[in-house]
Amino acid sequence: MSHQHHATLNGTEVSDVRIPLVGLGTWPLTGADCTKAVSQALESGYRHIDTAQNYANEDAVGQAIRESGLGRDEVFLTTKFNKESHGGESAVRQAAERALDRMGLDHLDLFLVHWPNPDQGLYVETCNSLAELVGTGLIRAWGVSNFKPGHLHKILSAGLVPPINQVQVDPLHAQRDHERANTEAGVVTAAYSPLGRGGELLQSAELSEPAERLGRTPAQIALRWHVQQNRIVLPRSANTDRQRQNLDVFDFELTKADMERIDSMDTGKGARLDADTFGH
Ligand SMILES: NC(=O)c1ccc[n+]([C@@H]2O[C@H](COP(=O)([O-])OP(=O)(O)OC[C@H]3O[C@@H](n4cnc5c(N)ncnc54)[C@H](OP(=O)(O)O)[C@@H]3O)[C@@H](O)[C@H]2O)c1
Repeated sequence: MSHQHHATLNGTEVSDVRIPLVGLGTWPLTGADCTKAVSQALESGYRHIDTAQNYANEDAVGQAIRESGLGRDEVFLTTKFNKESHGGESAVRQAAERALDRMGLDHLDLFLVHWPNPDQGLYVETCNSLAELVGTGLIRAWGVSNFKPGHLHKILSAGLVPPINQVQVDPLHAQRDHERANTEAGVVTAAYSPLGRGGELLQSAELSEPAERLGRTPAQIALRWHVQQNRIVLPRSANTDRQRQNLDVFDFELTKADMERIDSMDTGKGARLDADTFGH
């Protein structure tokens, strides 16, 4: 189903829904700090915000969007729901309505199953219920998060193709098996923790050398590596300068050699949390 989306450098299209490639991550910001971080991001030009029921900040994110002066259709908003709402259509519909109540908004652009929670055994039914919500006016698109290739194949076998799978990806954790499974199914990959949480990754020569050559920061090189592969990225910062840096990755290019050198950093290690055993 690779005809399902068409990706460009500053946005990717899923069915009829266009998604800006850089979205602001909001975990673990909450309360007034979160509202402020989202407000200043919107002022700097962000048009895609990522939150979740589990971050306990949907209210703060909603407030920033409501107070931004932007039209609701100018901001792409993603949230995710927890395992208590897995199951039939009424459970999932209620999860969407509750998220919207917390946000003070009338629709979501993307609603994700946050974790498959295979022990609960409901994720296939949940995806089916969620897909049914598209077109009701509550959500514009559905998707999944933390679905390993095995989970993805199970829903694909049920005829359910999620437009998006949001998983942990950074140069040290490239999760190529996940990306391959997504791509083969026509599923767009969105990278969470795209900066490797800002640790040793940003100190590496593989990022700092091209950064110096191009007059950029290591974080911009990491994000450019992602978007140059048409991957959605959700970097989180509450700092205005770093937020702006993270959005400003569309007017330079990494060479094939830069890309290959960053590719070679992959440790082959899986995500921090194993979706077969962890979930909420
Ligand atoms: N679906 C899921 O299960 C899941 C799981 C985890 C995360 N997420 C989402 O993904 C988002 C991002 O992931 P994350 O927060 O784990 O990690 P991340 O975005 O990879 O890293 C965030 C860290 O990087 C620093 N940073 C940001 N921009 C920088 C820059 N330009 N230069 C240097 N340092 C920079 C931040 O510090 P400062 O704030 O000081 O700038 C922060 O410490 C989350 O906020 C959340 O929305 C989803």
